[in-house]
This record gives sequence, C-alpha cells and structure tokens, in this order.
Amino acid sequence: MILYSSERFKGEFVSETYIKEVEQILDAGEKEPELWIPVRGENDRLKSIFQKVGYELIPTVMSTTVLRKVGAEGAWYVKIYHALKWKDRIRERLRPRALRTYLITRRFQSIGLQTPEPLGWCYIKGKNKSLIFTKQARGDSLYDIFIRKKTPFEKINQREVLEMVLNEMLLAHKSGVYFGDLHLGHIYITERDVEFIDLDSVKFRGRLRPSEMARNLAGLNHPALPLEKELKSLFLKRYTEEMGLEPETIKDQIMMFTEKRYRAWKG
Ligand SMILES: Nc1ncnc2c1ncn2[C@@H]1O[C@H](COP(=O)(O)OP(=O)(O)O)[C@@H](O)[C@H]1O
Ligand SMILES: [Mg+2]
Repeated sequence: MILYSSERFKGEFVSETYIKEVEQILDAGEKEPELWIPVRGENDRLKSIFQKVGYELIPTVMSTTVLRKVGAEGAWYVKIYHALKWKDRIRERLRPRALRTYLITRRFQSIGLQTPEPLGWCYIKGKNKSLIFTKQARGDSLYDIFIRKKTPFEKINQREVLEMVLNEMLLAHKSGVYFGDLHLGHIYITERDVEFIDLDSVKFRGRLRPSEMARNLAGLNHPALPLEKELKSLFLKRYTEEMGLEPETIKDQIMMFTEKRYRAWKG
C-alpha cells in the first residue's frame, strides 16, 4: 500500500490510479458541491454529476454514497461515508469509517474469509468524510440469484450453493465473526467462491452468543427464498451439528429475528 497525504486528503492506496480518482472526485465536488450531499435511493441530478467523472451512482440509504466505475483494471466500487449523527462525526475525526472497514477487511481475510480486495481508503480533510475503494465482487449475489432470478434457476445446484454458504458461515461463526448486517445481497458466489461485501457492521467476538448466530442466519432467511423446506432444515441441521448446538436452542431465535428483519416485506 502507498501511504498518501496531501492538503486535501490522506490515506493508503494500492496504486496511483486511485489517488487520481480521489482527486477527480474532489475536483468534481468543488464545481458541484451537491456531490457531497447524502441522498436516499435514486437521484437524477446526483447521478449526472457522478456520470461526468465516469461513476455510476448506486442507490443506497442516507449514510453512504456508493459508486461504481469500470477501468483498465476491472470494475471497482467507491463508498463515501457521511457521518450524519454527531457521535459519528466525532468518531469519524478520530478514526475514519473507511479505515475501520479497511482494517475489518484485512482481519476478515486473515481468518480465511473472502471479500473483494480493498484498493484504498482515505479521509477527506475539511469535509470530515472518508471513502473506501474495493474491487467488484465476483459472480452474482444470492439476492440476484434467488430473489431477482437473474441466473436461470435450472442452472443452479441449490444443494451446492447452500453447502458453500454453510461452510463459510461455519468458518465465520467459529472465528467469532458477527456480521451485524448480513443479507442475501451481501453474499456473492461464483462456482467455487463465496465473497462477503459491506463489512461496515462486522464485529469480532471471542465467541458468538446463540442470539448473535441467529441474527446472522436470519438475514439469510429471506421470506421469498424459493428453497424447499427440506433443504432449509438440512442447512440448520448441519449448522447446529457443526457448531455443537441443539437445533431447538437456535431455531426459535432465527424465526424471531427473521420476522423482525423482514416485517416490512410484502412479497
Ligand atoms: N465490492 C462490491 N462488489 C459488488 N457490489 C457491490 C460492492 N460494493 C457495493 N456493491 C453494491 O452496492 C450496494 C450498496 O453497497 P453497500 O456496501 O452494501 O452499502 P450500504 O452501506 O449503503 O448498504 C450493495 O448492496 C451491492 O449491490
Ligand atoms: Mg449494504
């Protein structure tokens, strides 16, 4: 990583490419200060501002701006953290979110879990915002596959996909990883790999409590997930066996957290 510090920003980057990208974004922001305003969901004006510097604006919640660009080295994502609440603003100053997520990513990889390679992070001086660059995840998300049905369903071996996801969940949980915000859209799979994105809420615990395991698993239990009941039960059975738990101790909690998480879902 290249350590970088200038009047405008400081951070670490894998190559000069991304330092230039930050400069470009900052230049664009000087002409169009709206670029820094957090917005929720779609926004045509903001979309066109980012388009001018080659970025596609991805709809998100208020606290982040997510962008995508395709360059010579492939596609990457940029995430801008806005630090909206006063507590977040203080925290951002002491320890930028982008740095925090970067360090989480590194620790995650050291456990043997996969996540798209971070390409750089920086803190924007004077704005009290930070941003992180990451490679695009490979493959499709479980949300694309199972809910949006982007991949033809006949092409998917449900059992194999579940097996792969189960193995990664076991590795994560045995290593004390609490995801905090796990759902089908944050898990990407290829034929052989499982990658997790959006690690902002990850916490490393010595040992997970069953309620924490249940919360993580509930995120995967989307109400529209078109899997046979038998397969879901098999997943839970294998999971609890491997974790040395009684299925009953965790099943009700998963149901409760699923209900809570997807209460607003109307199908
Ligand atoms: N590295 C990446 N690879 C592929 N898709 C990504 C990547 N980063 C973000 N995305 C897409 O952008 C969306 C929003 O990014 P995310 O990190 O989840 O931000 P938020 O904090 O707003 O939830 C993701 O759900 C995903 O669709
Ligand atoms: Mg997210």
